[in-house]
Amino acid sequence: MSVLSREIERRRTFAIISHPDAGKTTLTEKFLLYGGAIQSAGSVKGKQSDKHAVSDWMDLEKQRGISITSSVLQFEYDGYCINILDTPGHQDFSEDTYRTLMAADSAVMVIDAAKGIEPQTRKLFKVCAMRDIPIFTFINKLDREARDPFDLLDELEREFGIETYPMNWPIGCGQKFKGVYDREERQILSFDDAHRGRELIHGIKCEITDTEKLDELIGPYQREELVEQVELLDAASAEFDLEAVRHGKLSPVFFGSALNNFGIEPFLEHFLKMTTSPLPRIAEGKNIDPFDENFTAFVFKIQANMNKAHRDRIAFMRICSGKFERGKEYYHVQGNKSFRLSQPQQMMADERAVIDEAYAGDIIGVFDPGIFSIGDTICEKGERVRFEGIPTFAPEHFAMVEQVDSMKRKQFAKGMNQIAQEGAIQIFFEPNSGLERVIVGVVGVLQFEVLEYRLKNEYGCDLRRTNLAYQQIRWIENEGLDPKTLKLSHDTKCVTDFRGKNLLLFTSEWSIRWVLEDNPHLKLAEFSKNEV
Ligand code: G4P
Repeated sequence: MSVLSREIERRRTFAIISHPDAGKTTLTEKFLLYGGAIQSAGSVKGKQSDKHAVSDWMDLEKQRGISITSSVLQFEYDGYCINILDTPGHQDFSEDTYRTLMAADSAVMVIDAAKGIEPQTRKLFKVCAMRDIPIFTFINKLDREARDPFDLLDELEREFGIETYPMNWPIGCGQKFKGVYDREERQILSFDDAHRGRELIHGIKCEITDTEKLDELIGPYQREELVEQVELLDAASAEFDLEAVRHGKLSPVFFGSALNNFGIEPFLEHFLKMTTSPLPRIAEGKNIDPFDENFTAFVFKIQANMNKAHRDRIAFMRICSGKFERGKEYYHVQGNKSFRLSQPQQMMADERAVIDEAYAGDIIGVFDPGIFSIGDTICEKGERVRFEGIPTFAPEHFAMVEQVDSMKRKQFAKGMNQIAQEGAIQIFFEPNSGLERVIVGVVGVLQFEVLEYRLKNEYGCDLRRTNLAYQQIRWIENEGLDPKTLKLSHDTKCVTDFRGKNLLLFTSEWSIRWVLEDNPHLKLAEFSKNEV
């Protein structure tokens, strides 16, 4: 096997998704801890400002003590090279969170065992399901009082329409949490109070048939309960089907406690076996093989202001095939220009490092002098690959934004366009309105603050923002349909995006249904496919 193949083969690139507070940061940290990439937990990103925060790039981020940006972390574990795409943990997540999922080959969904599915989990799951990527579920916080595990699985199946397969099964919860039963090995991995809070634990193993030892470890009452539940599970659950996992139809489920380091190792081991090396990506209807020697990549995120002194932007790209080499000349397809990347960066556990080479599956960040847009393709000189664009996701919050000082019209237009081009906000226009007021749509409301902050600091413009009551937006898919011919209720508004596509703004899910009933030929989409 060539070096190239070997390097690509051992790569795994996944995103971690969850509702805030389910334990995503803790789990990420523990992955890094087990991979040896960090020495102690608490160094990935701290909520308090005294902790070192990897992704604190913007002042605003620091002021709020939250992470707006989503970062990429790379570490080694058991011969694998793992890329974790972290998604913003705060409620006010942005469209970037969705786009980041476009760069992943699988997702780990963290669920709080006491809460089950929460709104943000639901939204992120939907985006993963759109691409049929494998989804692994980690049910966390078993050291606290938790919901019945059967009930949690049932909820996942019912709400998400996927099958689940518990890889292990919890033995009690809260103070009575004794460990997990590994269904494949038919043995328990026990957890006791001495393990709580310890840095690395490996657990004590015991066969399910070894009644005496089990009684010693978990007590006769919990042993009996476990044996009963295991019988029930074996009889009731679906067959394990790796193909179904790889197509996102069956989610392997793991139970554990990230805070207590319990269940991390078994999770990583199974996860790495079940996931594949980087998956092919589609470019103009053709699959691009990741093992192909020719380098290809696409831009999935643009981050402005990584360094305040330079007002720079960094374009994050996912390498889809071949190997990237620093200093070599590559071709930017959409810009029709060759260029050299002299300072490509990669996020390591707690620093950004300049890298010399990277392989398919890896994420690199490159300085962007304003030439890249989301979805752009980079490839070898002389080639012309064009990856499918990244969809535009429907914003959920809308505001009318105007400049306060009418002398600053130019700066306003420039700033709004630039920030929209980076993908931090979406801008929409009402028919016949001028450029001095636009409708801004965002996925997370924090982006409104980011917009105000950036327009003031970078473009010298103060904004007047009026929040609008719209909550939903849909792209009109019918080609050539004149929106004026539609029957619309008074609270539905027709706008256009910067590509000139027509959209409808709604105040509720209900009004979408009414409009569809009144206009049976109308086709609406929640994502806009982008040709790039
Ligand atoms: P997030 O990134 O998904 O938002 O969640 P995060 O990891 O920050 O975890 C949210 C809270 O839940 C944290 O507590 C964290 O310590 C706790 N937590 C994570 N995993 C477990 C677990 O397995 N068991 C228990 N009992 N708690 C867990 P916090 O008090 O909000 O923050 P901190 O002061 O501990 O950092």
